[in-house]
Amino acid sequence: MSNNEKFRVAVIGLGWWGQTISKLIKNSNVLTLVAGSDLNAQSGRSFTQSLDVDFLPDLAAALADPRIEGVILCTPHTQHGAQMIQAAEAGKHIFCEKPLALHRSEVLAAMAAINARGLTLAVGHERRFEPPIIRAMEMIHSGELGRPLQMEANFSQDKFLNLPPENWRLSAAEAPAGPMTATGIHLLDLSVGVFGPAETMYASVKQLGSSLVNGDTLAILATYKSGGHALISAILATPFVGRFAVYCSQGWVEVRDKSHPEASTGWVLTSCKRGEEVQTVNYPPHPAVLSNLEAFADAAQGRKPYPVPQSQMIANICALEAVVRSTRSAGIEQVEAG
Ligand SMILES: NC(=O)c1ccc[n+]([C@@H]2O[C@H](COP(=O)([O-])OP(=O)(O)OC[C@H]3O[C@@H](n4cnc5c(N)ncnc54)[C@H](O)[C@@H]3O)[C@@H](O)[C@H]2O)c1
Repeated sequence: MSNNEKFRVAVIGLGWWGQTISKLIKNSNVLTLVAGSDLNAQSGRSFTQSLDVDFLPDLAAALADPRIEGVILCTPHTQHGAQMIQAAEAGKHIFCEKPLALHRSEVLAAMAAINARGLTLAVGHERRFEPPIIRAMEMIHSGELGRPLQMEANFSQDKFLNLPPENWRLSAAEAPAGPMTATGIHLLDLSVGVFGPAETMYASVKQLGSSLVNGDTLAILATYKSGGHALISAILATPFVGRFAVYCSQGWVEVRDKSHPEASTGWVLTSCKRGEEVQTVNYPPHPAVLSNLEAFADAAQGRKPYPVPQSQMIANICALEAVVRSTRSAGIEQVEAG
């Protein structure tokens, strides 16, 4: 593919993740980074200079730039809904970091604006692009393990322990239910990938092992309309761990991460079918974040539909809202229909 045919994007929000994504795009044969933007012009400009791309003052400037075909939103969570609508109204394809928004109503409004113009929407759930997760999902959905009964998953990390207390990631408005929007949301997304839309959420968040007053330890017991449970754990006060396991009527499959997705060093997939030996497969590192971005470009340029259906994006945010309500009510909350 020649450079001219690459899908031209701008990254909006050049913090931890926006910088991670920008550097990955520089190595892509499918996307090209035209520009970046950040509220902090000084750090944003110096970062874009280091990558030899343009700095733009704000999202509006990126939306007015005819070179830019798609925007990648790496901004705080409360901004996602309005920014998606703004970008859609300017005719740009959208990759939005997770969570797509904090409320179902925002997701529906954004999708209406995006779909009315035939634009592509992609979301930063790169776990779905990890080769062992793809393999586990194939095993689950092909029926070779029987009926999926229960998912157990954990995504924990201690990267936020030294953030200043006023950081947006530690605020109840931007990050309701403590670790939920940081890491728990990836597992909720996978649970929807396994079982489909959720039915109820029972969740508890506590501050047990850190000074993170918004909560550092989250437990969720979820049920799904198709049957099945998920037990989801997300902790911000313990070293990194990533584990995804699904137990089915004829066997089970488990994926363990060797390191944080930021710099993957690979995975171990273990599985067992009734009456057979446990099998273990090592997976080498794979840039799943880049695979997700390239799937966005493939969809926007009409090569292949984006693999995460919008119905599942909506179902994930409906489940998120019920998790947040449950941490506040201390009761079981019904999940709104998509
Ligand atoms: N997919 C993943 O695995 C993953 C990992 C980390 C973060 N994220 C997501 O990425 C997003 C950003 O998180 P982060 O950790 O990089 O946060 P961050 O605070 O490090 O960076 C956010 C940046 O956005 C800038 N910003 C804020 N409002 C802006 C605006 N209106 N226009 C331009 N710039 C603006 C800020 O100045 C800051 O530099 C969040 O949605 C987060 O959940 C995803």
